[in-house]
Amino acid sequence: MLGKKVGIVGVGMTKFGEHWDMSYRDLIIKAGEKAIVNARIEGKDIKEIYVGSMSPGTLIGQEHIGALVADYVGLCGIGATRVEAACASGGIALRQAYLSVKSGRNDIVVAGGAEKMTDVPTPQAAVSLAGAGDEEWEAFNGATFPALYALMAQRHMLEYGTTLEQLSEVAVKSHHNASMNPNAQFQFEVTLEQVMNSAPVALPLRLLHCSPITDGAATIILASEEKAKELCDNPVWITASALATDTLALHDRKSLSRTDAAVIAGRKAYEQAGIGPADVDFAEVHDCFSIAEIMAIEALGFCNFGEGGKITENGETKINGRIPINTSGGLKAKGHPVGATGIAQAIEATLQLRGEAGARQVKDAEIGLAHNVGGSGATCVVHILSR
Ligand code: COA
Repeated sequence: MLGKKVGIVGVGMTKFGEHWDMSYRDLIIKAGEKAIVNARIEGKDIKEIYVGSMSPGTLIGQEHIGALVADYVGLCGIGATRVEAACASGGIALRQAYLSVKSGRNDIVVAGGAEKMTDVPTPQAAVSLAGAGDEEWEAFNGATFPALYALMAQRHMLEYGTTLEQLSEVAVKSHHNASMNPNAQFQFEVTLEQVMNSAPVALPLRLLHCSPITDGAATIILASEEKAKELCDNPVWITASALATDTLALHDRKSLSRTDAAVIAGRKAYEQAGIGPADVDFAEVHDCFSIAEIMAIEALGFCNFGEGGKITENGETKINGRIPINTSGGLKAKGHPVGATGIAQAIEATLQLRGEAGARQVKDAEIGLAHNVGGSGATCVVHILSR
């Protein structure tokens, strides 16, 4: 592999939720300022910016995000690039920033992500999000994302006997974790009965099996090995960054109950880091719907295919369990401002590895994984972080 290690030297994010009083640019500036303070650098130290944003054009009427960010953070002149890969936009912005440092081209690079989703009514947001699927074959025919994931859930239940209770336990666990996360959108617990009896969205998926519509921004500052050691005593290192794709449309997949892009990206990431799934101490996975978390933990090798529901029900994915999943509250309860999600996952992993995750701290965490998905699984980016 090219170059030396890449370190994370600063992180910052806004609270996720409904921010009626803040614009898209306000959110980005706030997250960026926090990360710069956290890294103890100045704006002039930054050499490049990558920002993940999925649908600002249809959600707030704003495109040309790279230049906007450079302008509003006061860094005109700098190279700034918007990255788009649906809900994996943030994870891929992180990957682009990582590659920029890893190649030896730059010593300090920013990876950000933002989305302002609550300025439009939910049906309009759903139409924007549906563009992450196949417009001609899925969205045009009315298949929004809850519907696509409902098809995957039905297939998983049929093939493996996954139950509604198991799907619902994912949400119970995520809300519990989010109740300890001051940046989460939903900082409250829910019971199994509440999840199972919540309003139907696309059966078997109900309201409390779905991630919400969210505003938020998140920023990470990466540095070369030398710079990282200069800036902090214990940087967190990115030991793998892997990307894979699958068919855009669900009906073209080999299987509806497996996400092959995640299997491939996971394998590549484990190979790069020189580890296996059993070495991972915790993971932030892309649980846009409860079934997505179950399929993610199977694809990443934390259990066999078909056992994701069982290990959730057994408590193995709780903070004190065998493999803690989504200690932040996940997309379900921390919130899912689509472009910012991949960055926020890596921020949670960084806080865990620094020992700064407060009440939701995983004991002796040394290796964390972040898994970020675009669409119904057509893009998957996996990062492995270690201390
Ligand atoms: N989980 C928990 N509570 C939720 C929620 C969720 N996912 N979504 C909304 N709520 C709550 C709101 O806070 C609100 O509570 P309140 O009445 O106490 O204020 C209430 O439910 C109604 O909210 P509202 O915004 O009217 O919901 P909605 O019906 O417009 O939207 C969904 C609900 C599930 C349709 C919407 O959140 C959605 O489309 N989620 C999926 C997003 C998505 O597809 N992302 C991309 C994934 S790939």
